[in-house]
Amino acid sequence: MSDDETLRRGLADRIAAGGQLRSARWRQAVIDTPRHEFLRGGYFRRVDGDGPTGWEPVMAEDPAWLPAAYTDDSLVTQIAGTVAPGDIQGRIFRTPTSSSTMPSLVVRMLEDLQVKDGMRVLEIGTGTGYSTALLSHRLGDDLVTSVEVDEDVSLRARAALGSAGHMPRLLVGDGLAGDPNGGPYDRIVATCGVLTIPPAWLAQTRPGGQILATVCGWMYSSELTRLNVDDDGTAHGRLLSGQVSFMLARPHLPPSLGVLPDLDDGEERETDLGPETLDDWTTRFVAQLAAPHAQLVRISLDGGEARPVLIDVDTGSWASHSRDGERWIVRQGGPDRLWDRIEEHVSRWRRDGSPDLDLFRITVTPHTQTITWPN
Ligand SMILES: C[S@@+](CC[C@H](N)C(=O)[O-])C[C@H]1O[C@@H](n2cnc3c(N)ncnc32)[C@H](O)[C@@H]1O
Repeated sequence: MSDDETLRRGLADRIAAGGQLRSARWRQAVIDTPRHEFLRGGYFRRVDGDGPTGWEPVMAEDPAWLPAAYTDDSLVTQIAGTVAPGDIQGRIFRTPTSSSTMPSLVVRMLEDLQVKDGMRVLEIGTGTGYSTALLSHRLGDDLVTSVEVDEDVSLRARAALGSAGHMPRLLVGDGLAGDPNGGPYDRIVATCGVLTIPPAWLAQTRPGGQILATVCGWMYSSELTRLNVDDDGTAHGRLLSGQVSFMLARPHLPPSLGVLPDLDDGEERETDLGPETLDDWTTRFVAQLAAPHAQLVRISLDGGEARPVLIDVDTGSWASHSRDGERWIVRQGGPDRLWDRIEEHVSRWRRDGSPDLDLFRITVTPHTQTITWPN
């Protein structure tokens, strides 16, 4: 057995032990697919320090590179929309924009996709092409199409897929439009997050087909959902468990904050709901439903502890908290009272017994997306 086959088998064993790899066909795909080929151009290693998060390149010559390709980690392959590992020496302090997703999550999603032989699959977010390769292995190249928004990323994925022996159909474009000329598909799977399921995905999934995607928000809580598409072009499903998060589809990224609001403005009142509420993943998801255009930023006022501040750039509404002894005071400005809405929503969810996210239902039509919890 070659060294990298040992590494691939080790990865498959670990993902199986974690419960994400559940079937023989996907196991064989993991064993036969060389993840390192999808990382030939190197990856970025995170460097933690006191300041902003930095990233430094790890190239294929580095002894750490091959073992890293077979860890169950997401490996960042592009920063700030253009920078690949081979482009820099030293460190870069910007946001990741493309990666090879952690293998256990890729495999979990492929298992959750419930594919059968002969099904046509559209993937949104080709990235390195590793997940595209697993799909191609399982279904055959002819049945797999993958869309990537970034042309350079797509070109690198094409080369990597070729060296792994696959030639699926690769498109460059905004995956929120799906594949306008290629549907209908039996399955659509997205490896970038979305705020709302795009209407094009509903239209391009055949009735009875499924969409698997992560619904996110600008407070950075998110969850995977599996939707069944009906004859009338609407889709219904539920959230799955696991606190799944993905980088957002580029058109769904939040607008820049611009000039910050004057946090001394507005009106204040006492609230029972303190800002620590937003530390909890599920509560944050519920809050996000109430104020879907509010961005969560952490600001330290007067050099004190960083506190969450909510800002809706479109309307100019905002909310921030301060402490008065044992009490929380919320100050809100702009036309919308963001914290009033969140407080009402979170209180209702708590009165309903704080159901977990995997009990939430989601309904999508070409014009609306509704997420509800049982009561
Ligand atoms: C987490 S990575 C994908 C990981 C990939 N499946 C893999 O295994 O390597 C997300 C990818 O989605 C791409 N992306 C972001 N917005 C997109 C959009 N609107 N349409 C298509 N791809 C998009 C990013 O450029 C990035 O490459």
